[in-house]
Amino acid sequence: VSLKAYNTFGIDVNARFFASVSSVQQLQELLGDARYPEPFIIGGGSNMLLTQDVNRLVIHLDIKGISLVDDSFSENEVLLKVAGGENWHEFVLYCVAHNLGGVENLSLIPGNVGTSPVQNIGAYGVELKDTFYECEAVHRDTQEVRVFTLEDCAFGYRDSVFKNELKDAYVITAVTFKLTKSNHNINTDYGAIYDTLKAKKITVPTLKDVSDAVIAIRQSKLPDPKKIGNSGSFFKNPVISQTQFTQLRKVHTEIPFYPIGNEQIKVPAGWLIEQAGFKGKRFGDAGIHDRQALVLVNHGNATGQEVWAVAMKVQAAVEEKFGIKIVPEVNVI
Ligand code: EPU
Repeated sequence: VSLKAYNTFGIDVNARFFASVSSVQQLQELLGDARYPEPFIIGGGSNMLLTQDVNRLVIHLDIKGISLVDDSFSENEVLLKVAGGENWHEFVLYCVAHNLGGVENLSLIPGNVGTSPVQNIGAYGVELKDTFYECEAVHRDTQEVRVFTLEDCAFGYRDSVFKNELKDAYVITAVTFKLTKSNHNINTDYGAIYDTLKAKKITVPTLKDVSDAVIAIRQSKLPDPKKIGNSGSFFKNPVISQTQFTQLRKVHTEIPFYPIGNEQIKVPAGWLIEQAGFKGKRFGDAGIHDRQALVLVNHGNATGQEVWAVAMKVQAAVEEKFGIKIVPEVNVI
């Protein structure tokens, strides 16, 4: 079975066996089936680069459903439980339409709800962890269901327990969000959101106004995976020491940066890659997006190996020019 339609990079590799599951019980049965050792789980397929055929069972997680589990968690908040197979952006639109606040800045992020906690998705000043209440996950070996609280997940920048101690141990089947039903905390700190609203003369933005602004900003910079294969940001933004940053800034006076605490500085990998001369470059069908250098793209028939080769070229060039090693945020398989 070709996995081309199941990964947003549009990489054409094959799975030896393939099954879609629409319930937790079906998932548990397949995970426990001794005929298919170590199955490979695919959700929205938006954060992976497949570089070879998958010689195992691929389980496509397709569990659906959104339910209000507590409509008065606090005076101002509700709890909404969302099945892992729900598309992330459709979930955001559902919230906006039902006047539930907290995820509007995360509009148009590709992928599914079930994988959103793994890398603590984030954009425009908001991260998944800000509305996360708990999630349910099935252990791959024992098939036991466990509930993870916010603390259990140990969220960090593009990071969680599911990328570290519990890497590949669980399959997340549902996420419960804590959302506002009134007095929303509208976050327009990110410059481009502020500018977009201002241009439209919106002074008191609604959830929909913010969501629409984010959609417009993303569409202007990020390629639509339905048209050009990609996995969003390919690399994480590197965090360097204040000392290294001070040195760097002497040479590159215009470098953008975000202080993290007092000792560390996050610098945008997109800027480093652009300065290294890679923005918009193309090597066969693999390349770097022309409007956001942090995004690697598949212009059509690139193989995973070809995209990976470009990634390594970019990584080496950035390290050579700036002495900073940028590391992938996507899972390379
Ligand atoms: N920049 C360049 N050239 C580029 C790209 C960026 O000079 O080609 C500069 C920009 O001018 C700006 C800075 O880098 O000064 C930051 O750019 P941007 O605001 O576009 O954000 P980013 O740091 O490149 C991060 C996330 C995105 C998220 C945006 C907005 C990571 C790895 N990426 O990108 O997330 O949408 O912020 O909040 O943290 C994703 O994870 O797939 C993703 C798209």
